[in-house]
Amino acid sequence: MTKQWWKESVVYQIYPRSFNDSNGDGIGDLKGITEKLDYLNELGADVLWLSPVYDSPNDDNGYDIRNYKAIMDEFGTMEDWEELLAEIHNRGMRLIMDLVVNHSSDEHAWFAESRKSKDNPYRDYYIWRPGKEDGSEPNNWESAFSGSAWKYEEATDEYYLHLFSKKQPDLNWENPTLREEVYEMMRWWLDKGIDGFRMDVVNFISKVEGLPDGKPQEGKKYASGGEYFMNGPRIHEFLHEMNQKAMKGYDAMTVGEMPGVTPEIARKYTDEEREEVNMVFQFEHVDLDSGPGGKWDLRPLKLSDLKENLTKWQKALEEKGWNSLYMNNHDQPRMVSRFGNDKEYRVESAKMLATLLHMMKGTPFIFQGEELGMTNVQFDSIEEYEDIETLNMYKEKREEGVSHQDIMKSIYVKGRDNARTPVQWNDGLNAGFTTGTPWLKVNPNYTEINAEQAVNDPDSTFHYYKKLINLRHTNEIIVYGGYDLLAEKDDSVFAYERTLDGEKLLVVCNFYGEETSFEVPSHYAGKEGTLLISNYDNEAVRELPESIGLRPFEAAVYKV
Ligand code: NOJ
Repeated sequence: MTKQWWKESVVYQIYPRSFNDSNGDGIGDLKGITEKLDYLNELGADVLWLSPVYDSPNDDNGYDIRNYKAIMDEFGTMEDWEELLAEIHNRGMRLIMDLVVNHSSDEHAWFAESRKSKDNPYRDYYIWRPGKEDGSEPNNWESAFSGSAWKYEEATDEYYLHLFSKKQPDLNWENPTLREEVYEMMRWWLDKGIDGFRMDVVNFISKVEGLPDGKPQEGKKYASGGEYFMNGPRIHEFLHEMNQKAMKGYDAMTVGEMPGVTPEIARKYTDEEREEVNMVFQFEHVDLDSGPGGKWDLRPLKLSDLKENLTKWQKALEEKGWNSLYMNNHDQPRMVSRFGNDKEYRVESAKMLATLLHMMKGTPFIFQGEELGMTNVQFDSIEEYEDIETLNMYKEKREEGVSHQDIMKSIYVKGRDNARTPVQWNDGLNAGFTTGTPWLKVNPNYTEINAEQAVNDPDSTFHYYKKLINLRHTNEIIVYGGYDLLAEKDDSVFAYERTLDGEKLLVVCNFYGEETSFEVPSHYAGKEGTLLISNYDNEAVRELPESIGLRPFEAAVYKV
């Protein structure tokens, strides 16, 4: 296994709109991020990932890009961005940008041309098709944000494909000119000095020829169609070409966001010899609490499923390829509310989940506020929500006759705005996020949960994350060691070991709020374990007993 800086790094994701507002307009901005770099440096983050900061009409909060080479007015100017990059580099950190090239905004200059006429030189930058014989949509695919994935345009009597909102038309990767434009744009940013890209739904860019109808879903008007656009026929070719034409020659990292990716396919994407991407974001572990109806169809998580799934990924990419590790991002609910206990054991369970993830093999990603143990939010009225996915789903389900209360239940658990409430900096006005009116309401628990409190409290989740990051920086075994699951059948403890050059790490996590015990495997019998980290008071060195008692959500890591 080759040694690489991006294997040894911890990435911190910033959702700029909700991070820190420097000018009182209620929207986070670039200067606001620069103001907080010392905080991020203190935490120990190696790499910062910025969700999109490009010029955008914000139909999907910046994931609909109007101009790939300009900064969104609300976020500041290109000079602000250059200053941010310089200040990140001054502190020895790196910056990766979001690359959103499965689609652009419908307000992008390319689309403005494309929609004009069938023979416009930009027509083929997007995916246009005539309707079926009866005039209906070209196929039955559903948009990720509800309704058909096609929008009809009268001017040319054709439909365009949009796997996300109507304002996010899909780019046509079959067109080599479009591909060259994208690579040129990537090099333009790399030449400005960035350290890599996070690539938005990048495994959607190759669609199956003919765009066939997807398998009908029971009781639903549209089909997902995913089998025809996820990990499509030319995807490896496109990613390799992108690697060669855009990334080659730069010391930069890439992480591809890839819904529907399996460990077998991920091994191909991340096999270093194939030169495609460094790592992928997979979704299997964050789909374990969804039923057949999709993300809004709530199911309790079974610990056995999580163990089985994460272990499968750890083993599949052990020799070839590389894993990313995450439980949170701007699309997912807050992990402590989802998998832990955000009331009585908020701090303990947030630390346990962080331990579980950060001791695994792969590059960990922390989402802003996760280090503070920020929680999900519950607004009473749908008017208080901002996310297009949530709002479209609400409207659709109300039309189908589902009650307000039932829909809100799903939104409270899974809605994307859970992650997007402003970062809670202190217990003052608007949690210190803005002096104006925040674009999305602050979670009312900011008086207790905030960065000022956490930085001043040595037992806080903040200091725990700092320690976890530092352990990764100082223990090769955490980065490069092998992984093996322990106590597979135990239904309350998630335990595993890491192994490198005769050394072992024993990681033991009580996943629930009841006391339990862990039967220590016989190969540890009588051995001395040095405690690396724990969310409870534990002896610094102990002879490992046959059985370790565990308090609610207790986590402990021993070096043996
Ligand atoms: C994935 C992004 O993470 C999400 O926020 C966005 O809505 C879609 N891709 C579309 O760009």
